[in-house]
Formats: sequence, structure tokens, C-alpha cells
Amino acid sequence: MSAEGPEVFTFRTKEGLTLMLTEKIQNLIRAALISGRGFNIALSGGSTPGILFEYIVKSYSKDDPGIWEKVHFYWVDERCVPPDHPESNYRMVNDTLLGKLPHSDNYVFRMRGEMEPQAEAARYSQLLKEQLPSVNELPVFDLVLLGMGKDGHTASIFPDQMELLYTDNLCDVGVHPESGQQRLTLTGRVINHADNVFFLVTGKDKATRLTEILGRGKQAETFPASYIKPVHGKLSWFLDDDAAKLLQK
Ligand code: 6PG
Repeated sequence: MSAEGPEVFTFRTKEGLTLMLTEKIQNLIRAALISGRGFNIALSGGSTPGILFEYIVKSYSKDDPGIWEKVHFYWVDERCVPPDHPESNYRMVNDTLLGKLPHSDNYVFRMRGEMEPQAEAARYSQLLKEQLPSVNELPVFDLVLLGMGKDGHTASIFPDQMELLYTDNLCDVGVHPESGQQRLTLTGRVINHADNVFFLVTGKDKATRLTEILGRGKQAETFPASYIKPVHGKLSWFLDDDAAKLLQK
């Protein structure tokens, strides 16, 4: 991230967006493998990442020496539902990506939405401490892939629960403000401790919020996504034209 802020990539087509995003992710994985270690990625749910996962599966070539088999898959957040529930982020990632991509099941660390939320948040926090490298006693992801809601939330950190940006808990429990659904979520400090954070935001319904957040408008301070500023890592936004249409050209 340069001194003046994050990298912002805007694409006219979803194909262009997913091609570049896939290449960037694959290059990060290859760099980790060359240095002899695995790659720790945390994936968001929702409806947007599906276009990326479909492209990754479509573009997977057998001659790529199994890079995805060295990837360790974590989740950014999870709805407190069973893994086979239609709203499960694990089910979405499994259906659109993991079920179609050679990977190691030993490296899939799902948040257990079916468990008691606080207990699972504590378990997942401990898992992160045990599994991930750490800097200053905080786990470090190689890459955290985020979405952004129309209300400016990210992960499952909602505007009325900003304390989840600062808690010492690595994983905590959020509550969807409209549905009341409980959700497990990585917290702000973990996300901001990643080496790379990619936002993938598409659609015209995100354009207003995006302009406030990237334009650092007055309202921005009320949106959790505004507080994603990696401490030492790199922040990049990948947008389609619809989402970016109100940004200053
Ligand atoms: C979730 C996600 C959430 C998502 C945003 C955007 O569990 O829903 O992790 O944070 O990234 O809500 O959702 P869409 O991609 O569906 O717009």
C-alpha cells in the first residue's frame, strides 16, 4: 500500500476482474511455495466471491504443479448454521471452489457454524494461534479476501458492532443487524495483520458506500470497511465498473 492509500483496480468486465485477481492470488501462492512454506488464505462468503471461485476452477490447469494443494483454507466469517445449510459460507466455498479444485482436506479449517458461537469463536482463535505464523503475537494471514456489504460492513463486522474491529479476540461473534443471525468473524486486528488484504466489490448497489470509503468522506468513519488498513501488509480493491461508477475519475 503506497503512502497515499490502497491500490484500486477497476474492471469493465467480471472476466477481466477475475482473471487479474486470480493471477495475483496465484502469484502470491507461488511466491510462498518458492520460499518453502504453505499459503494461508481466509475467504469471505456472500454472493460476490463466487465469480472468482468459478474462474479459479475454470482456469486451473493440470500443468500447474498442484499449487492449490499447498494452500491452507480459512474463513473470514461464517453464519451460525450447519455446514450444509444454504446460507453456510463453508457450503458456498465448498460447492463453488473446494469441491472442484485439487486441494488437501487437511488444510481446510472451517468455522463450525453448528457449534455454540462463543465456544467456536474461542476454538477458532486458538486454531489461528496454533496454525499461523505470528508477528507481535498476532497471527498473520498471507491473504484475506474480503467483501463489503451495502451498509459498509466487512467480514461480519457490522456498523453497530465496531468494537469487533479492536477486540483482542482473534475470532468473535457478530450479529446481523437485520436478521439477528449470529455470525462467527475474524476481527479487525487479525485482518489488519495480514500480509495482503483484497477487497472484491461488484455491483451498483455498493457504489455510494465505496465512494464514501475510498473518498474518505465524512460518513466513512461509520463503516467498518473504512477501518481495514493493514498494519504492515498491502490493501488492494478489485472493483467492477458498476461498483466504481461514482469514484472520482
Ligand atoms: C458474508 C460475508 C460478508 C460479505 C458482504 C458482501 O458472510 O456475507 O462474509 O461480509 O462479504 O456481506 O456480501 P455480497 O458479496 O453478497 O454482496
